[in-house]
Amino acid sequence: MHTLIIGQPEQGKSTLAKIIVRQAAQAGTGSVVLDPIGDDWGPSAIIVDSVEDMIEYAKAPENANKLLVIDESSISFDHYDKKQHWVAKIARHNGHSSIFIGQNVTDVPKGVRTMCTQLFVFASSRTDARELSDQFDDDMLLSVTKLPKLHFVRIVNRQATRGMIDIRTMQILMQPAPVKPMVRKMEKSTKST
Ligand SMILES: Nc1ncnc2c1ncn2[C@@H]1O[C@H](COP(=O)(O)OP(=O)(O)OP(=O)(O)O)[C@@H](O)[C@H]1O
Ligand SMILES: [Mg+2]
Repeated sequence: MHTLIIGQPEQGKSTLAKIIVRQAAQAGTGSVVLDPIGDDWGPSAIIVDSVEDMIEYAKAPENANKLLVIDESSISFDHYDKKQHWVAKIARHNGHSSIFIGQNVTDVPKGVRTMCTQLFVFASSRTDARELSDQFDDDMLLSVTKLPKLHFVRIVNRQATRGMIDIRTMQILMQPAPVKPMVRKMEKSTKST
């Protein structure tokens, strides 16, 4: 699965990706991270310095089923749009999952964005909110212009949910889905019988 994480600076994108990397490690999946900032991604992550290195590593049959993370897509790739497509393609064929992170929608090429089935959006510009709400066909994304730091809207399987990062526990907290009126009715009728 390809994941797209978009948001303005200092909103929590890398922190979220680090939590996902840690969760993957707990499930037995190692990660390969391209991060020009050089953050600490924990013991389960192999850090690569270039897109070429990531592609080479990810292509090797013995390295299948990893989580590939590209932080700061615009810096990492610059004019390497084609390479970013490569990462997305290799990921699919070699059983990898991948995460593309950008401060703006345009940091990640459209062809890659459209391959992403999971989306996390932190506070973003109105232009980006519109673009993403069009692409993922959900108006909840229009509200991301007003999100506080560390809060996001997630779309997966065409379902939008709000969530946040608890920085103290380093956990992702998702807002519970609202109970549908139909379900409430059924519960009521069950109780009265
Ligand atoms: N371990 C921590 N303890 C306390 N606060 C933290 C910790 N890690 C991150 N934060 C807070 O989370 C904020 C978001 O950081 P993060 O690096 O995830 O942002 P980002 O969206 O990746 O920003 P950028 O686009 O600049 O890379 C930071 O400004 C910081 O306040
Ligand atoms: Mg970051």
